[in-house]
Amino acid sequence: MAAEIIDGKAFAAALRDKVAEAARAFEKQAGRKAGLAVVLVGDDAASQVYVASKGKATVAAGMESFEHRLPADTTQEALEAVVRQLNADPAVDGILVQLPLPAHLDDKAVIALIDPDKDVDGLTDTNIARLANQQDGLFPCTPFGCMMLLEDRLGDLSGQSAVVLGRSQLVGRPMAQLLVNANATVTIAHSRTRDLPSVVRGADIVIAAVGRPEMVRGDWIKPGATVIDVGINRLDPAPGAAKGRLVGDVAFDEASAVAGAITPVPGGVGPMTIAVLLRNTLVAAHRHES
Ligand code: GUN
Repeated sequence: MAAEIIDGKAFAAALRDKVAEAARAFEKQAGRKAGLAVVLVGDDAASQVYVASKGKATVAAGMESFEHRLPADTTQEALEAVVRQLNADPAVDGILVQLPLPAHLDDKAVIALIDPDKDVDGLTDTNIARLANQQDGLFPCTPFGCMMLLEDRLGDLSGQSAVVLGRSQLVGRPMAQLLVNANATVTIAHSRTRDLPSVVRGADIVIAAVGRPEMVRGDWIKPGATVIDVGINRLDPAPGAAKGRLVGDVAFDEASAVAGAITPVPGGVGPMTIAVLLRNTLVAAHRHES
C-alpha cells in the first residue's frame, strides 16, 4: 500500500493562521506587535531567499519584521554590536542570525551573545540545556516542526523506536532530544555509523537530516514506518533545463511504496520551519510581557 503523504504545507498554513490570531490578541493586550529581527550577513543566494520569506511570513502573521542585512565583509565586532543592540531593544522579541555566516566570522561567539529569551532558533547553550533538562525554553524550529507532524500522525510517541540520521546542532541533536523527551527510543546515526541500512530498518520513525540527495533507499525502511525527510537538495539540471529538481534525503518513490507515512520534498518539513519560527517569536513575546 502506498504511504500516506504528510502535508506539511497545509499543517504549516494552519499553524501560521493560529499564530496570526494569537498575534492579534497579543497586540491588543500588550499595545504593541510582537517583533522578530533577522540578521543576514553577506549575499549567499539561498540565505537571501530564506530571509525574504521569513520577513514576509512575519508581517503576514501580524508581527513586526526587522531585517538587518550586513555586507559580506562585516567584522565580528560590528556583527556583535548589532546583536547587542537587538538584545536591548524592547520591540524585538526574537533574534535569528541566519546561518551559515561567512567563514571569517565566529558563529559560536555570535550565538552566545543572543539573549536566550530572544533566541527563537534555540541555539544558545541556555536553551540547549533547557531542552536537555525538559524545562520550558525556545527550541530549534525545524525539529520542533517535525515533532508536531509526528505527534499529529502518531499521537503519543512513547516506546516508538526512532532513528535520526544526522547530528547537526540545528536539526539532528535537538531532534533526538525532543524524541527522547517524548519517550521514544532514539538512535542517532551519522557518517561513521556501521551498516546504516539495517539501523534504519529497525525504526518505526525515521528522520533524515543529512543533506545527501536520496541517500535513504526504499529497502532501508521498515514497512509501515513514518518517514520525515528534512533534506532539501537541488539536483544538477537535466539537459536543457534551467534548474535541477528539488529532492530530499530519502528516495521518495521507493520509500513511499514501503512506509506508512512520509513527508514530501518540497511541501513537507520545509514550510514548518517558518511557521514554528513565528510561533517561537510569539511565545517569546508573551514571556517578555509577563
Ligand atoms: N539556515 C538554515 N536554516 C536555518 C535556521 O533554521 N536558522 C538559522 N539561524 N539559520 C538557518
